[in-house]
Amino acid sequence: MTTAAPELRASVARLRARLDALAEVGATTAGGCARLALTDADRDGRDLVVGWMRDLGTRVDVDRLGNVVATWPPDRDDPAVMTGSHIDTVANGGRYDGCLGVLAGLEVLETLIAAGAEPVHPLAVAFFTDEEGSRFAPDMLGSLAFAGGIPVEAALDVVAIDGATVGAELARIGYAGAAPCPARPPRAFVELHIEQGPVLEQHGVTIGAVTGVQGISWSEVTVTGQSNHAGTTPIALRHDAGYAVAALTTALRVYVDDVGPPLVGTVGRVELTPNLVNVVPGRAVCTVDLRHTDESALDAAVAWLATTCADLAEREGVTIEVSTLARFAPVVFAPEVVDLVESTARDRGYSVMRMPSGAGHDAQMLGRVSPAGMVFVPSARGVSHNPAEHTDDADLEAGLDVLLRVLCALAEVPGGEQG
Ligand code: GLV
Ligand code: MN
Ligand code: MN
Repeated sequence: MTTAAPELRASVARLRARLDALAEVGATTAGGCARLALTDADRDGRDLVVGWMRDLGTRVDVDRLGNVVATWPPDRDDPAVMTGSHIDTVANGGRYDGCLGVLAGLEVLETLIAAGAEPVHPLAVAFFTDEEGSRFAPDMLGSLAFAGGIPVEAALDVVAIDGATVGAELARIGYAGAAPCPARPPRAFVELHIEQGPVLEQHGVTIGAVTGVQGISWSEVTVTGQSNHAGTTPIALRHDAGYAVAALTTALRVYVDDVGPPLVGTVGRVELTPNLVNVVPGRAVCTVDLRHTDESALDAAVAWLATTCADLAEREGVTIEVSTLARFAPVVFAPEVVDLVESTARDRGYSVMRMPSGAGHDAQMLGRVSPAGMVFVPSARGVSHNPAEHTDDADLEAGLDVLLRVLCALAEVPGGEQG
């Protein structure tokens, strides 16, 4: 493989300016971003990024699921070396999660275009629909469909927590495109992302060469009991759906502590009905997020959830239904891409370590059809899915530099090796 020209320098200032401008879209009073997938704010963010893509002279294709791909040179149709991520956010997210990967990709393109580079293989920068999965489950829905992991019709029919469907919302915001989905697999896929955890910072290391992504299980648990008067109903006679969810939450923590790392478990959403001070809740819905790097350990945790819910239902005199929102096995990235990320970081003088990803990413879906890998940069204090998400300019610059060199190596930018 050829390596990139050392004089190519991507601009962290330009990257930072685009990150800041995108963060203005759906900005919250807490200083974060709220661009849940396929909302008006997501549309406005998409419009901004697509404008930048067009300004660079790329060809912009939007597929049936609203995944957006910018290809350069624009007249090329052979499989591209692709980078990218997502620009949707959780309801109270930061400015880096996903956006970094997309905007760093644009910065790499801008740098190469300005330098008159002529890559052997075309380059592409993508952003995928509904990576977060907060509004429409499962997460990584767009990249899953892009890679052929779910029929596009099934993805279009997915219903949001607010009752809207993916298909209707895509049409409403003007992103129901015509490009085929699933798409032809890219030649390779590399995603730059913030780590979203504390490991790099704790080790004082700048670059993570991501070896894979842990398995994910998302369940929705619906408890049906009986709403009743909070003052008159003796405790022993209650069928308290709220209590059942609280008991499940504490039992989950005890189970996760017993099993130990790397198992993690989270009850992230709870809705009580009727949600009033003086009424025993008659219905409760909660979500359970379980993750582990080992598939059989994750299976065991999912089985524990089913048994625990059945026991609770009997004990409390309620019914409990458990439905699957997402279930993805652990993913191992292509060894040649992991090696390339690691050696590139080392060659460029950055400290680097191999590490698995705790979060789900579009790269894990692209990895089903193409050689894929990821570059991590540190998250200050390990904070993510939070307005306080932050990565220093020096770390952004390192990640951008590694991404540029890795993409140049994969796309074979001529003359790169002599600098
Ligand atoms: C995606 O952000 C996830 O929940 O890992
Ligand atoms: Mn992300
Ligand atoms: Mn996220």
